[in-house]
Amino acid sequence: MSNKIIIAIDGTSSTGKSTLAKRISKQLNYLYIDSGAMYRALTYYAIKRKFISNSHFDKTKLIADIPNINIDFRNNLTNNNLEVHLNGISYENKIRSLEVSNLVSEIATVDELRKQMVLVQHALGLNKGVIMDGRDIGTVVFPNAELKFYLEATTELRAKRRYDELLLTDKNITYDEVLDNIKLRDNQDTTREHSPLKKANDAVLINTDNLTLDELESKLLSYINPLITKNL
Ligand code: CDP
Repeated sequence: MSNKIIIAIDGTSSTGKSTLAKRISKQLNYLYIDSGAMYRALTYYAIKRKFISNSHFDKTKLIADIPNINIDFRNNLTNNNLEVHLNGISYENKIRSLEVSNLVSEIATVDELRKQMVLVQHALGLNKGVIMDGRDIGTVVFPNAELKFYLEATTELRAKRRYDELLLTDKNITYDEVLDNIKLRDNQDTTREHSPLKKANDAVLINTDNLTLDELESKLLSYINPLITKNL
């Protein structure tokens, strides 16, 4: 019998958090929750409602509109992944665009939005058996998570990984704009007032620079397995 726990994975962009979390969730039969997708969906909404652009951000209007925004996760039957839905619709490709990436960290500074997202995240963790990745999962969302990881990698390697990934859907993308976006978000995410990205004191620090995904998966599982097989 296994003991269900909450696993928090935090870290900067493109450190492999979501790929690893997804793989491990399938192995353990856990829910994988991509908390960044929630902020991306909120950003897509704010762009569509013209609350935010490269040159302006009407935070007051966005906050006033919170009662009209519903963010939840629903199962995608084709790949069995939980996908974020904005007012009942999935915008999976659109929320991954560079346009959204360039504005998401600004949206993620809004504490009123964060509080709503944390309510949804807590509800998802009620029965444990959850692996959630993001920026504040081990520090704010689940400070009592049984296991926390903090993933890091050099900026250039992260930009290269993200560039290769985005090139599959956008042939016009350049490495430099991806690198700029990663630097911008690193800065905004670590310096914001509410729930800034930082390593929780009790998180396991993992550098992903020189390890393959298989090696990383084994490493994470070497911390997870003893916790889920105890207390039988
Ligand atoms: O995929 P990537 O690591 O590039 O980013 P993401 O996980 O999709 O998150 C997008 C953005 O959402 C981050 O850069 C943060 O600004 C914000 N975010 C956050 O503030 N808190 C979280 N728990 C997750 C994401």
